[in-house]
Amino acid sequence: MNIKGRDFLTLIDFDNKDINSLIELAQKLKQEKKDGKPHHLLKDKTLAMVFAKPSLRTRVSFEVGIQQLGGNAVVLKQDEIILGQRETISDTARVLSRYADGIMIRTFAHNDAVELAKYSDVPVINALTDFTHPCQVLADLLTVKEKFGSFDNLKLAYAGDGNNMANSLLAGCAIMGIDVSIACPEGFEPDLDLIWKCKDISIGSGAKIEVVQIPSEAVEGANIVYTDVWASMGQEKEAEKRRKIFKNFQVNEKLMKKAAQNAIVLHCLPAHRGEEITEETLEKHANTIFEQAENRLHAQKAVMASIM
Ligand code: CP
Ligand code: NVA
Repeated sequence: MNIKGRDFLTLIDFDNKDINSLIELAQKLKQEKKDGKPHHLLKDKTLAMVFAKPSLRTRVSFEVGIQQLGGNAVVLKQDEIILGQRETISDTARVLSRYADGIMIRTFAHNDAVELAKYSDVPVINALTDFTHPCQVLADLLTVKEKFGSFDNLKLAYAGDGNNMANSLLAGCAIMGIDVSIACPEGFEPDLDLIWKCKDISIGSGAKIEVVQIPSEAVEGANIVYTDVWASMGQEKEAEKRRKIFKNFQVNEKLMKKAAQNAIVLHCLPAHRGEEITEETLEKHANTIFEQAENRLHAQKAVMASIM
């Protein structure tokens, strides 16, 4: 794999070999960290981190990750940078490229991340937009590989909003050959254009892709059951309305009975217990879910070390 200098904006920009190599590198870095073996692959390199939305996992895992690689981070929050308002995104990109060796961005409009990457001379990493969250799904794939040993003969079911997580999971599964069934209410499906692109990719990978409206249909025989909040960052005002629309899409013990034996539950977090997942189901699968959160660190170190 040689992806040096490339942006990491969406998973579909990468093929099965690239993703496999990133996961293998993440596994190696995770083991080395456990063994206390330093790996200063980005010695003295700087990552600029731009946040237009809140974060716990992304902020800490990127900052700790670049430090463990021998580099350092500069964090820019929305009130400091006011992305696209204080100055153009293209000017921001050209300035940051003069100071930093890589830029990480979390923002609303996906096109803003694309615009930043277009004008940046250094690689840009998408750390969540309204459209996708590729770093999360890379960590999820690492978790799946750790739990099942490979990506063969697996089905992932997602119940809830066809949001950035659903979009990225579709892409990740299509590329890796994991069957994927997404259940969402009518009008809340994943991005249609992306569904078609993923169907195209699945011709090569063998993944079966479906979007349904009944959670128990999606979860039938699934090895991995995934959910995410019903109201994403920026949709807080719709939360009440969405609670009603999504009430039958909760991941709970009754739904889990439809899944395969020993199925795992994944959640990108933050979780809203009693909404998209019950306290009982989350706690039953807490070990996996927090390992998944830890894996953000290892997966993103692999991305940074490979592109920066
Ligand atoms: N899963 C995730 O991206 O978490 P944060 O929003 O806390 O970064
Ligand atoms: N869909 C959620 C994911 C959070 C990691 C959001 O965008 O808020």
